[in-house]
Amino acid sequence: MKYIVANWKCNPGTVVEAKKILNGYAKSIKKTKKAAAVACPPACYLGLAKEILKGGVALGGQNCHWEAGAFTGEMSAEQLAGAGCKYVIVGHSERRQKFGETNESANKKIKAVLAAGLLPILCVGETREERIAGNITDAVERQVKEGLADVAAPVIIAYEPVWAIGTGQACSAEEAKVVRQFIINITSEKIPLLYGGSANSKNAASYLREAGYDGLLVGGASLDPKEFAGIFDVAKNL
Ligand code: PGA
Repeated sequence: MKYIVANWKCNPGTVVEAKKILNGYAKSIKKTKKAAAVACPPACYLGLAKEILKGGVALGGQNCHWEAGAFTGEMSAEQLAGAGCKYVIVGHSERRQKFGETNESANKKIKAVLAAGLLPILCVGETREERIAGNITDAVERQVKEGLADVAAPVIIAYEPVWAIGTGQACSAEEAKVVRQFIINITSEKIPLLYGGSANSKNAASYLREAGYDGLLVGGASLDPKEFAGIFDVAKNL
């Protein structure tokens, strides 16, 4: 079973555009046992997504807070569950770099997501500087171990080298394969591992087949429904 997860980030700007993308998904992505498609739109489009996708594509949140109540601007895992989500992305590098998210906060979020009955997708990955300094596995190990401290499966981990996100410079399948094996070695359970970072329909097979990943976390390419459906087709036809 492969997971093809769409991370729309803070896109698109209008409901009209969101409808267009969702209608495209609904038209070309059909439920299959071989692959699960998951859409993580901005929270304001979750209701619309639930209506249009009707369960053929599962829903996910892009972030959550670990508590509910007096936290203006935040959203709890329970609320995401109520909005129809089955998954929540946690610790995305943009949240780490632009919103001060840490391994500790990611850990709290993961626990809240699991408590709400949802599946967390923990994002890990080295920065360009860490890569140049030869610290890929150190960075990834810390993020995995601290992010998953006192957490029992089920979780999903997405390896997203930060330098490959939104740059068009995807990580080579060989390099991604080495990190995949490293993550398997440091995690005790069978955790599904996704690759993310400039993934598209052309390079999808190299991560899913050659590098052995269980799925992809797709940013930019997921905003084009034809391209996203193309990636899904690669996964389901493997
Ligand atoms: P990208 O983003 O596919 O645009 O590189 C991936 C992500 O940020 O999850």
